[in-house]
Amino acid sequence: MGTVKKIAFATDHTAIEIRENVKNYLKDLGYEVIDFGFCGNDSCDYPDYALKVAKAVANNEVYKGVLICGTGIGMSIAANKVKGVIAAVCWDEDTARFAAGHNCANIMCLGSRTATLSQVCDRIKIFLTTPFQERHSKRIEKIKQIEKMESCAC
Ligand code: RB5
Repeated sequence: MGTVKKIAFATDHTAIEIRENVKNYLKDLGYEVIDFGFCGNDSCDYPDYALKVAKAVANNEVYKGVLICGTGIGMSIAANKVKGVIAAVCWDEDTARFAAGHNCANIMCLGSRTATLSQVCDRIKIFLTTPFQERHSKRIEKIKQIEKMESCAC
């Protein structure tokens, strides 16, 4: 029996109605869910949760991360500030597939206001099971080089 892969997971308040279903879906797929929490019924700030998941991913504590806010955009912006993270908003099944297969994304960001639970689950399955295609490695290396730059004249 192989090792169970861990998924770092967090949402903001907008995902209150779907977050437990999403966690159960991940467990049904065979993953261990590390839930970095959310704020219950209160409004909270998505960067706080993006940071927790991003750190776990960047430190290789988990296989990949799943973040949900209203659109996925805020979570992705915040998570991408952490070195080693490639976070992608996946707004349909194709972008979930390409984010994993082409962009080597290690965090997917989803929108609770822009997708149904069923769409969220379908995208998660695709993202987590699509292998990275090595022919895209050179481009990922270039992203890592940008990350290493102390300053960017742009
Ligand atoms: C919260 O209202 C909302 O701004 C947040 O969930 C997210 O959509 C940001 O990108």
